[in-house]
Amino acid sequence: MIKKIKVEDVRLGMYIHEIRGNWLEHPFWRKSFMLDNPKDLEKLIDCGLDEIWIDTRKGLDVAADQTVTEPQSNVKPAIDDEPQKIKKNSVSSVSIEEELESAKKIHSKAKTLVTGMFHEARMGNAFEIEEATVLVDEVNQSLQRNPNALLSLVRLKNADEYTYLHSVAVCMLMVALAKQLKLDDEQIKQAGVAGLLHDVGKMAIPNEVLNKAGKLTDEEFDVVRQHPQRGFEILKSCYQVSESALDVCLHHHERVDGKGYPDKLSGDALSLFARMGAVCDVYDAISSDRCYKKAWGPAESIHKMASWKNGHFDETVFHAFVRTIGIYPNGTLLKLKSGRLGVVIEQSKKNLTTPIVKIFFSTRANAHIPIEILDLSKGTDSIVNVEDPLKWQLDINHVQGI
Ligand SMILES: [Fe+2]
Ligand SMILES: [Fe+2]
Repeated sequence: MIKKIKVEDVRLGMYIHEIRGNWLEHPFWRKSFMLDNPKDLEKLIDCGLDEIWIDTRKGLDVAADQTVTEPQSNVKPAIDDEPQKIKKNSVSSVSIEEELESAKKIHSKAKTLVTGMFHEARMGNAFEIEEATVLVDEVNQSLQRNPNALLSLVRLKNADEYTYLHSVAVCMLMVALAKQLKLDDEQIKQAGVAGLLHDVGKMAIPNEVLNKAGKLTDEEFDVVRQHPQRGFEILKSCYQVSESALDVCLHHHERVDGKGYPDKLSGDALSLFARMGAVCDVYDAISSDRCYKKAWGPAESIHKMASWKNGHFDETVFHAFVRTIGIYPNGTLLKLKSGRLGVVIEQSKKNLTTPIVKIFFSTRANAHIPIEILDLSKGTDSIVNVEDPLKWQLDINHVQGI
């Protein structure tokens, strides 16, 4: 619902539909946008307007919880508090089993596409991104039908094809995160394309450095750290690449505390897209097997990132990301109070701490047991801890059916 409100009632988490008046009278070049930056809120209050228009379908309403106007550490992002609202908005119309088949096709198509584009980049050729925008639409639709299918596939990787599959994963995570942040369709598309292309600069890095099995020397590390700038130059030569994709490519290794690279940008100098790119990129990098390091599990990766987030990531974006993939993301192996092991296959409609698991192994009998799908929100069993599949020599992907 479009609603006119007094500027003094504006708060973070609202979706600004329109600011009426001369462009010169206020500092906002965007007509409609999610108000998620405290500095923007300050500017809005200071710019002397009396009233603005908000869209309560895309953001908070005036009557909702007033705590969002507290300092940034307590700021509730422009997202829902409970995962069930993701479902409500996204209308999960099909089961994960039904969606997995088309999700696998989209995943495979994305890998072929990014491999082709990156190959052109390595040859020094410009490439078209039109197919990438079509693909991102398909990603968006799959996530809309049932987000669990594609979000289970992002873990599928092998070290050899890491750069391509990581790009596919970051694309999908960016689209899911953009949806969680309630960005509009055009922004969702830009976020996905930006994710797909963010590491294209790695094509300008010699293969022996990019895929080196051992620790990089300082000189080699300096070469790898050139990839955002090199990617930016590659993308500038391509037709119709959005400003957002250029921005994410150049700034996905920046940190909010200014300790990132290449420009050591901090805080407000970093766009929302760059902050989103940083979170999606790090999550996928640390939760993937690399030629020099084994992956951390999905839940462990989220836990580690939560412990670094002060200064490393934007807090609002990180919280939205956790709501997107869960505290126990799909693919996490859990030990339950009953002594059984189950793999997370879906996020719960009710609570991030009670996902839906596929139970398949008994630690007491040390043997496989008949498969049972259990919604932990029902309370018949509960999580004891996260387990390492390697310890039990279990193939989690096989159990998940991916
Ligand atoms: Fe990168
Ligand atoms: Fe990356």
